[in-house]
Amino acid sequence: MGLLDNKVAIITASAGAGIGQATVRLMAKEGANVVVTDFHERRTNEVAEGLIKEYGKNRVLGVPCDVTNSKNVNDMVMQALDKFGRIDILVNNAGRNVLAKIEEVTDEQWDLVMDVNLKGTFLCTKAVVPIMIKQKFGRIISIASYEGFTGTELGEGPYVASKSGIMGFTKALARELAPHGINVNAIAPGIIPNPFLKKVYGSLLDDLPERVPMGRGGKPEEIAGACVFLASDLGNYVQGETLVVSGGLYIH
Ligand SMILES: NC(=O)c1ccc[n+]([C@@H]2O[C@H](COP(=O)([O-])OP(=O)(O)OC[C@H]3O[C@@H](n4cnc5c(N)ncnc54)[C@H](O)[C@@H]3O)[C@@H](O)[C@H]2O)c1
Repeated sequence: MGLLDNKVAIITASAGAGIGQATVRLMAKEGANVVVTDFHERRTNEVAEGLIKEYGKNRVLGVPCDVTNSKNVNDMVMQALDKFGRIDILVNNAGRNVLAKIEEVTDEQWDLVMDVNLKGTFLCTKAVVPIMIKQKFGRIISIASYEGFTGTELGEGPYVASKSGIMGFTKALARELAPHGINVNAIAPGIIPNPFLKKVYGSLLDDLPERVPMGRGGKPEEIAGACVFLASDLGNYVQGETLVVSGGLYIH
């Protein structure tokens, strides 16, 4: 018996080395039928094929999708609905960042971050909500960041704005959709190192043992665990919340 038996879950940006892939893996392990979907076509197919080997082709669908493109998103959701007949869980995981002080942020960088982080969350949510309303059941979980609460001195204005925006969007939709049996929540991870993050931030991650009360960065699987909690019956009464999972880096 898994916590997500017979549920159908879409996890965006789930073919990278971080939170998305860890979440799709844990949800499949907990019994969900899963949709692996990512901007990166080859990796989407590889991750989906790996999961098919473990769980069989009836339980896994791989669909490349750019969350900023509404046609892509609607096609992806329709393929998932055709294959599995319902959509229970959406994890809005896709996120981009640019490191640039405000004087240097270009219009294009601002638009990129807003498009992936906020518009992507909007488009994916909009595409699944009519299906969830018909089912009278749904779980929408969006990945924000602790920086959406604290800000940062590193030059991440667009990112912080977008992550605070996700928290606001979550609150609004939680009120709007609760009467339809849909729970809408966000997760604010602390710092979750992965190879890509290490390349971008380099030595800025070296002081994690001193900065984080628990003495270390998080693991993608530890954010995936919070996603499973919110997606499962264990999270039934959690609504409109942003759950901070940061090893104590941000305590509010
Ligand atoms: N890693 C951290 O420390 C950390 C901390 C706080 C919040 N977050 C948030 O968690 C989420 C996951 O981050 P992660 O670092 O674990 O990486 P991840 O591996 O989960 O996600 C990276 C993937 O995103 C995909 N992607 C990028 N643009 C896309 C688009 N337009 N459409 C679809 N897919 C796209 C990439 O192809 C890549 O595979 C992001 O929203 C990020 O902002 C991460």
